[in-house]
Amino acid sequence: MMKILVTGGTGYIGSHTAVELINAGYEVIIIDNLSNSKEFFIDRIEMITGTRPVFVNADLRDMNELNEFFKNTNGIDAVIHFAAFKAVGESVKDPLLYYDNNICGMTNLLKAMTANKIDKIVYSSSCTVYGEANKLPVDENSPIKKAESPYGFTKQVGEQMLFDIAASKEMKSVILRYFNPTGAHDSSLIGELPIGVPNNLVPYITQTAVGQRDMLTVNGNDYDTPDGTNIRDYIHVVDLAKAHVTALSRILSGKTEQDAEVFNLGTGNGNSVMEVINAFEKVTGIKLNYRIGPRREGDVISIYSDTEKANKVLGWEAKRDLADMMLTSWNWQKAISNSTNNN
Ligand code: NAD
Ligand code: WQD
Repeated sequence: MMKILVTGGTGYIGSHTAVELINAGYEVIIIDNLSNSKEFFIDRIEMITGTRPVFVNADLRDMNELNEFFKNTNGIDAVIHFAAFKAVGESVKDPLLYYDNNICGMTNLLKAMTANKIDKIVYSSSCTVYGEANKLPVDENSPIKKAESPYGFTKQVGEQMLFDIAASKEMKSVILRYFNPTGAHDSSLIGELPIGVPNNLVPYITQTAVGQRDMLTVNGNDYDTPDGTNIRDYIHVVDLAKAHVTALSRILSGKTEQDAEVFNLGTGNGNSVMEVINAFEKVTGIKLNYRIGPRREGDVISIYSDTEKANKVLGWEAKRDLADMMLTSWNWQKAISNSTNNN
């Protein structure tokens, strides 16, 4: 059985990926410092799959903890690296926190991997690297724009580190640029757990619908789009998780065509904020309380993915639609709102 280290594996995308990895027959070891997640996600992964992943509470910023981990854990075949901070606004307020966690944390991980001769990594990047793209849908050759935030910069640096290490032939990587992950596992046992006020649209919608927030504010309806609201490519987290299994198997079986390969992970469909709200209202039958507010600083107007490379080269395709994303997000919201674990 291949042994896969998943950093950030109790987090939103990491926990869904751990489930898909176990279902695909991999042995999963999770490192997470629980800075943005809870340990009960390990129980939930076990409830879904029947297998409990090994969990190590360690911080990638602490080289001693990492060395200790690798000293005690042999035979890791590859790493999927999710662990990072991801709040754009927080990164603007405290850039050093983001440089330290996302860049130093990843540097430590790569150093430890190199020292332990682990040379395969799948990396969580983001469509944020494209900024406001010159042409839509955006493909992997679109230029990387000056980052809009320190968070976005850390994703670019992470990619560049992997390109540089690939050039030195020390590591093979698959870089996955996610568009807008949303939705939750069908079991409603795992899903996104925003700590504090959510920045992202869908958790804000579900928290408003459940009564935890008074009202959603739509960040501007005067953009140059059909209904005036921003367009994004929302992708179901289970589809995204499955893409990691595909990427992993590609890298493990030596099928990668370059030492650092890049894939967009999106559906290829652009949906506006109003379309997301309408889809939510339709599948849940709930009338959402919202108002139109001003534009949010730094928002790109429209972005959605060219999926051809992921479809043809990676051999992966998103299957689940916006209605499914809204329904599973809502079921998860109701489940956590009823759960005493969420405190
Ligand atoms: P998340 O916050 O739910 O998961 C990240 C996990 O990493 C958390 O469990 C956190 O506790 C852990 N972590 C953070 N810093 C750590 C450290 N120094 N040591 C150990 N563990 C640490 O976030 P997510 O949405 O699952 O995102 C996963 C990855 O995907 C991140 O790298 C993020 O930048 C990237 N990404 C996310 C999105 C999105 O919208 N969710 C979009 C594009 C890219
Ligand atoms: C989507 C749309 C908002 C909240 C962010 C990061 C990006 C990536 C994905 C990690 C926008 C609007 C939102 C609200 C709203 N993450 N909105 N009211 O901005 O596309 O991307 O998450 O890499 O880096 O920037 O996602 O969910 O925040 O916003 O109207 O209360 O919803 O203005 O148009 P975004 P989002």
